Amino acid sequence: MKRVRKCVFPVAGMGSRFLPATKASPKEMMPIVDKPLIQYAVEEAVAAGMTDMIFITGRNKRTIEDHFDKAYEVEAELAARGKRELLELVQNIVPARVNCIYIRQPEALGLGHAVLCAEPVVNDEPFAVILADDLIDAETPVIKQMAQVYAERQCSLLGVEEVPRENTRQYGIVKTDGGEPGVVSAMVEKPAPKDAPSTLAVVGRYILNPRIFHHLAQVQAGAGGEIQLTDGIAALMREEKVLAYRFKGMRYDCGSKLGYLQAMVAYGKKHSEVGAAFTAYLESL
Ligand code: UTP
Repeated sequence: MKRVRKCVFPVAGMGSRFLPATKASPKEMMPIVDKPLIQYAVEEAVAAGMTDMIFITGRNKRTIEDHFDKAYEVEAELAARGKRELLELVQNIVPARVNCIYIRQPEALGLGHAVLCAEPVVNDEPFAVILADDLIDAETPVIKQMAQVYAERQCSLLGVEEVPRENTRQYGIVKTDGGEPGVVSAMVEKPAPKDAPSTLAVVGRYILNPRIFHHLAQVQAGAGGEIQLTDGIAALMREEKVLAYRFKGMRYDCGSKLGYLQAMVAYGKKHSEVGAAFTAYLESL
């Protein structure tokens, strides 16, 4: 039985929907209240027992590396000022047993290509993929829910949720045999509402068998000139079972302005320090 130990975080996209905020820093560093999106994503993988965090970075990668690295100056300042709690906060962003590995995607050739860049480190193991801009608030972290299903079924898994039919153009849409988790029988990238085989959308959580690399290496650039992960998964599906897992949790699409603002309100309202005052402020509006 194989266990999922490695998690890939593709963070090399352009983030064009958030320009100019993403001109000089990646969108995954945008904070929800006081933590960047990428930290929520890493915490999710750590909570699932994963130990190798593999970041696929592009231009402007520095801030992400620095975020998960030791920050001598900040730490020395906080220690000198006796700010113990803040010091612990910056020192414990990732547990000591966790490795952070950075791979450069030389050109933003698409999500499928970004995942393929992880092959030399992932090798022959199943691995998780988390897109940090899909922030999911859940009692049990979603990638942990999925790792538990993987442990039983040993099949690749796609995190899915129902979306309104008018939004199918924004997602990969799957057709399943109706089981839970359901076996995926078709997958279409960004279909028009009338062509969508269902309203079950793939969101930014995956557990994939390493055979996906073989298929990604063959995929030709598709929609938008990019190498699509969806195309690689569609090829994998013809060879082995791929399951669609309806996760339990509330997703915020933080790659869009509206979703980002919704996440900020939801996380702001329950924040330990400012939640009560923020909620009172919202009620007063
Ligand atoms: P998106 O489709 O959200 O694209 O990528 P984007 O460039 O980040 O944002 P917009 O649409 O221009 O605003 C989905 C995920 O895939 C990563 C992104 O970083 C994001 O996490 N990605 C995408 C890569 O790592 N490399 C790529 O070549 C493309």
